This record gives sequence, C-alpha cells and structure tokens, in this order.
Amino acid sequence: GFGAMAEEDNVLVMATNAEFPPYEYHEGDEIVGIDAEVAALIAEELGMTLEIEDMAFDSVLAAVQSGKADIAMAGLTVTEDRMQSVNFTDTYATAKQVIIVKEDSDIAGPDDLSGKIVGVQTGTTGDIYVSDEEGVTVERYNKGFEAVQALTQGKIDAVVIDNEPAKVFVSENEGIKIIDEAYADEEYAIAIAKDNDELLEKVNTALNTLKENGAFQEVVDKYIND
Ligand code: ARG
Repeated sequence: GFGAMAEEDNVLVMATNAEFPPYEYHEGDEIVGIDAEVAALIAEELGMTLEIEDMAFDSVLAAVQSGKADIAMAGLTVTEDRMQSVNFTDTYATAKQVIIVKEDSDIAGPDDLSGKIVGVQTGTTGDIYVSDEEGVTVERYNKGFEAVQALTQGKIDAVVIDNEPAKVFVSENEGIKIIDEAYADEEYAIAIAKDNDELLEKVNTALNTLKENGAFQEVVDKYIND
C-alpha cells in the first residue's frame, strides 16, 4: 500500500487531527504540538522525513489500516477495542477525560450528566464514555473547540474531553471551568498497521531513545508548563 511506498521514499506519513492543543494544532500554516514534534524526532531517528496528513479524528485509524498513513499520532488513547484494528507502540503520556462546564453549573461529576446535553469530539473516548451514560444527550462535533464554543454559547451543558486540551480551551474562554471529578486515567500511544511489525519495532526503539536522552521531555516541557 501507500504506507510501504512512503517508507521506501524515506517519508514517514503521520495521520492526525490537528484540533487538539497542546498535542497537535495549527499555528499559521504549520501543524505544531507535542505529537508533531516528537513524530519529527522519531522520523529523524529512522532517517526519514515526516509528512503530516491532517484529517477528521475518526479517520486516523482507518488511514493507518489502509496504508494511507504509516503512523497515527493524535493524542490517541489505547483501548481494547482499537487494539482489534491496529497495533500500538509503547505509551508516551497519561491523560484523562475531564468535564468542562459553565462556572455556575450544578454538574459536579460524571454522575450528574444524566438529563444533560453533553458535547464531545466525534469518535473520541470522551464520545464513547458519554454515549454509555444513561440519560445523556450526546452532541458530536468535528472539533473539540466547537464543542467548547457551544458550551460558552449555552447550547449544551458540558463538554467531555482530554485534560490537556481542556486546560487550553478553558484558558482561552471566559466563564467555563474544569470540574475536579474526572474519568479514569488513559494512556496515549502511536498506532501502526497490524501487519507492519517492522515499523512498530523501529518506532518503539526511536521512542525509547528519545525518552532516554531527554529529547522527548524537552518537547513536552515546551508545550506543558504547570
Ligand atoms: N484521547 C482521545 C481518544 O483517543 C481523544 C483524542 C483526540 N485527538 C485529536 N487529535 N483530536 O479518543
């Protein structure tokens, strides 16, 4: 497929959804963030050049499966379900789904979401969790910030999204907050096609090198400072 071709051309194609600060987002014409920079370092370790393909979040795993991309790096949570369709590298971050509400909201935790309208980014673990909750009306958005916008406009009651983008979106908008009670911890990893064990091993080796020589942490510290 394309993936193999891309590899032969010494191009590592990464599928992502660049609507997820601080992991991947647009800055002018560029896609920046932790994943974008770490992926570039991984490509360098592999003697390859990184090419980023920006797409809808719910397309990134299919892109890897079809060989349209070599890797998917998108603040991707490892789940049992996703492991049926792709392989995951070693994990590189811990995260959790948090709830964003208006400052005066009566919602104090996941149990209070029943009877409420909750916004999520389509296909995310937040979407999966909220869709599982009894009595919740789920509003799905293409981009996380669109859900946050709907919340500030009073169209929905809460947003469920990963903690780091939540912090960014809350800092950029008046009158909303992250509530203390959150869902269980998750781990992020890079997804690679099931039949591409060779690349999986190479990426794991590169990732470990970057963790050990401090380059990985340097990128994280550049984007997360708290
Ligand atoms: N961690 C969540 C998941 O894997 C959300 C990831 C969203 N990422 C993005 N680049 N928009 O489902």
